[in-house]
Amino acid sequence: MNEKIRSQLYQDAKQWIKEAGTTIREKINDPLIVDTKSNPNDLVTTMDKETEKYFVNKIKTKYDDHQLLSEEGFGDKVKSLDGTVWIIDPIDGTMNFVQQKRNFAISVGIYHDGVGEIGFIYNVMDDVLYSAIKGEGAYKNGVKIPPLKEKVPFEKAMISLNHFWLCENRLVEEEVMQELVKTVRGTRTYGSAALEFAYVAEGIMDGYLTMRLAPWDIAAGIVIVNEVGGVTTNVAGEKINMLVNNSILVCHPSIQKTIIKDYIIKGKKRLGHN
Ligand code: IPD
Ligand code: CA
Ligand code: CA
Ligand code: CA
Repeated sequence: MNEKIRSQLYQDAKQWIKEAGTTIREKINDPLIVDTKSNPNDLVTTMDKETEKYFVNKIKTKYDDHQLLSEEGFGDKVKSLDGTVWIIDPIDGTMNFVQQKRNFAISVGIYHDGVGEIGFIYNVMDDVLYSAIKGEGAYKNGVKIPPLKEKVPFEKAMISLNHFWLCENRLVEEEVMQELVKTVRGTRTYGSAALEFAYVAEGIMDGYLTMRLAPWDIAAGIVIVNEVGGVTTNVAGEKINMLVNNSILVCHPSIQKTIIKDYIIKGKKRLGHN
């Protein structure tokens, strides 16, 4: 992607994200209409929809040849990653937004011909913006995030994972995942995939493991984590397809093999899967 265009896109996206964040903060105590989608805990609010519409309007006005892949359905039916595609989650962590009024993020990834060029994750209530341009490093509120440290021993690792891994599930035997929890130093569940990616980039978490995420949950995070030397694959260690849902393993490179071999593959085998 042309440097000048990329830099303009970065500036525009940053400004629009900050503006959208300001609006959310101003309205945080306004009455909310909360609807449900696929199940009673799959929430969507007027704020998710309004924020997405705000981005659609800004992007389509200035960049009418760009495509927009976003959660709440106001974007395009994106079938290919050719050209420039904005991949947006207007509010990642809607349950946190509704129940806690914090711990949620705006996530914006900009891809060109399938390559992640720009990523932004904005923790709205804390006013913390994680950003990255491919090849130029990752930043937290404008301060460069250092590359991930050389090695993380598995028993000293902090891993984000959803507690469903520890319940009976179709992917891995839960006892094997319970072993993982007992082996590592600590585990956390933050409830916003985008923020969990950002924490891995920042080096305050060493990995994030999740069964099924949509492109808008991960598009920005992938760009940011890659810039500090983290690995971003599915739980089998394969490349992520940005047009479908994927399982996700994002982590420090030194613990990737252990997680895949000793837990994912082993947990699958124990269920009788190959
Ligand atoms: C959700 C959050 C959550 C993850 C879910 C996502 P949403 O996104 O990222 O942490 O576990 O799978 O769907 O719906 O709040 O944008
Ligand atoms: Ca959602
Ligand atoms: Ca999301
Ligand atoms: Ca969302």
